[in-house]
Amino acid sequence: MEALLHRCEGQSALFDPLHFAERIAALDRLEVILDLAEGTDETTNDKALLGRAQALTSQLQAANNALFVELRSEIQSGNGHAALGRWISASQDQGTEIKPGLSYDWRDDLVTGILELEEPDSPPVHPGGEMVFYQPTPARHIFEMLSSLNLGADDVLIDLGSGLGHVPLLAAITTPAQCIGIELEPAYIESARRCATDLGVSNVDFVTEDVSQADLSNLSRATVFYLYTPFTGTLLTTVLGKLRDQALCRSIRIAAFGPCVEALAAKEWLETQSPSQSERIAVFFSRG
Ligand SMILES: C[S@@+](CC[C@H](N)C(=O)[O-])C[C@H]1O[C@@H](n2cnc3c(N)ncnc32)[C@H](O)[C@@H]1O
Repeated sequence: MEALLHRCEGQSALFDPLHFAERIAALDRLEVILDLAEGTDETTNDKALLGRAQALTSQLQAANNALFVELRSEIQSGNGHAALGRWISASQDQGTEIKPGLSYDWRDDLVTGILELEEPDSPPVHPGGEMVFYQPTPARHIFEMLSSLNLGADDVLIDLGSGLGHVPLLAAITTPAQCIGIELEPAYIESARRCATDLGVSNVDFVTEDVSQADLSNLSRATVFYLYTPFTGTLLTTVLGKLRDQALCRSIRIAAFGPCVEALAAKEWLETQSPSQSERIAVFFSRG
């Protein structure tokens, strides 16, 4: 612990707002140390080290909070594209392939700090069966999708089963597209709407609805649909049927994550430019 503390305390770059990923890594290490130390008999020397570890943790958290306040204020002034766009490109500029899969990383801490989305106090009323419980798409996949979709002012993105609304919120903050989240659980919708209002984001809307019964007037506006496997089985088949009806009227793109990618890859009315895999977001185009 002494060596880690010494290294972190002497590293002034750790407090640079842009060194968020490094701060999160240091905070994770400090948390492990503080957890291990809890409940053990402490010598005077240990107490002094623990005090330093707690002080460093507070300073690093304060640096993160300052960054969140700055980014929220940029978004509130209508500069969300520049404010978050920087992080999206920085996150992809490291020359390495983004990590596939469901794990979360510093980008999720960043998004959580900026959006301040609140999980509902009471457990969601989840009907179960073919409907999948809430789990957010890892932020690095959302960032990669937003870079590749290149959404413009004429685009309308609909997240089918939007949970707390990360995808429509991030898309609305960083692009001029209209973004809509459709979600069954009213408490998630309430949290997502609160976030949009607090951040002054006006190109996003949230609808409490069962996607399988979704109002066609909403679906018919979409140019891009997003699904992080909100349901399976016959429900998924029904909704994909609705999307196919939409694709008969105009070109659409469908971005998908998780097990539903396999179902989409099997549809002859869709094509994709790269081999689709469920561990990354796959983008499909309706055949003309
Ligand atoms: C795996 S989560 C994905 C959340 C979000 N799209 C994201 O990527 O961060 C699936 C979400 O779909 C919602 N859901 C499940 N069945 C639904 C239905 N029939 N209509 C609307 N939402 C549904 C769940 O409540 C849950 O929030």
